[in-house]
Amino acid sequence: NEGALWGARFATGPSPELAELSRSTHFDWDLALYDIAGSHAHAKALAAAGYLTADEERAMHEGLDTLARGIGDGTLRPSESDEDVHGALEQALIAVVGPELGGKLRAGRSRNDQIATLVRMYLLDHSRTIARDILRVVDALVAQAEAHPDAIMPGRTHLQHAQPVLLAHHLQAHAWPLVRDLERLRDWSARAAVSPYGGGALAGSTLGLDPQLVARELGLDRPAENSLDGTSSRDVVAEFAFIAAMIGIDVSRFAEEIILWNTREFGFVTLDDGYSTGSSIMPQKKNPDIAELARGKAGRLIGNLTGLLATLKALPLAYNRDLQEDKEPVFDSVRTLETVLPAFAGMIATMRFDTERMAALAPQGFSLATDVAEWLVKRGVPFRDAHEISGHLVRVCEENGIELHEVTDEQLAGVSAHLTPEVRTVLSVAGSVASRTGTGGTAPVRVGEQRVELVERVQSA
Ligand code: ARG
Repeated sequence: NEGALWGARFATGPSPELAELSRSTHFDWDLALYDIAGSHAHAKALAAAGYLTADEERAMHEGLDTLARGIGDGTLRPSESDEDVHGALEQALIAVVGPELGGKLRAGRSRNDQIATLVRMYLLDHSRTIARDILRVVDALVAQAEAHPDAIMPGRTHLQHAQPVLLAHHLQAHAWPLVRDLERLRDWSARAAVSPYGGGALAGSTLGLDPQLVARELGLDRPAENSLDGTSSRDVVAEFAFIAAMIGIDVSRFAEEIILWNTREFGFVTLDDGYSTGSSIMPQKKNPDIAELARGKAGRLIGNLTGLLATLKALPLAYNRDLQEDKEPVFDSVRTLETVLPAFAGMIATMRFDTERMAALAPQGFSLATDVAEWLVKRGVPFRDAHEISGHLVRVCEENGIELHEVTDEQLAGVSAHLTPEVRTVLSVAGSVASRTGTGGTAPVRVGEQRVELVERVQSA
């Protein structure tokens, strides 16, 4: 078993079936450059503790730089016989700096503390990319809201017409969860920026290496407080997978609406050709595949989270090989978001709204009935009675096949003496929307203020 990280106590080498099962290079090679960074830091700690001379340390860093170049340009790849990224890189280092020096680097560290550190570094880096991608989605939502400050649409509950709202209010309602996701990533990163390096296999090191130095070199805040916890907990990975799933879910809710809005029946939006797909058989088709994939990928992100949680459940301390199963799901979550979010942002930025159609539909379905009731309340009618009167008026409209704004003075008076013709002041969608001036309401003035607040929150996230 030439070049393996273990073997002396074994009479035979690993069976081919074991090697096949055990091998992780096809996914943990994504950590190769983080492994090299860890090795640079570890070499410094070894030198600081007197285990490498200045010359040896220099040769070690140069050797590691050579490996990094090989990883970067693809000339250094794991071989069939490599079990994992750590073994492959030790082999490669020995090939560059010789077995004497190359064999010194592993002192005082284990693949267990290495992998626990590297996965954090990987996720911290990608969390920044994902945050930038979320920002693009939020920017696209804010830009569309800004471009349509007065457009009114039917607001829905239970997917039924409920009350008219500003399109900008609705778009911003999809931005806020994403802002909270940005804040979640920020909060998570404070917990993630901890270095298990130096914990060894589980119990810590005897060599007097400085874990603070390693943490600092790796851009992490501090070493893990407990070597058992540092090497064997993956709550940081699971939490990341949760945030990734939540981002996917938040995006999927808007995706679902875009799919509906893009139907002939709704007709609220037209998607740009560059962000739509065609059919292989139906020449006329133009499909919202980005929105559908975003919706579908949310399921995949949830699966990655639940799979990981199932792996972690009831694992005894400390490291167990099961923990190797953390990487594929969370790497997949990273890649999924890094492909979904840019496409989603582009689709939103280029979407065209049929604001006339939205406005025309806004008053339908008696969506101003609450405004009638609240108009009555302002005239001293108890809400319970006002609700009855407005509901009665809706029934009269329905029986006559008309909308609320089409009622005659006689019909109003027939329902209740309280319903004077002045009630018409609230029977316009613009009037209704403008009057919802309470905090967080859909009045244009509030929605404009809200947008300022939204942009501020994004900038501080
Ligand atoms: N590949 C392992 C992982 O991803 C790290 C190596 C630890 N292997 C071991 N036999 N202790 O978790």
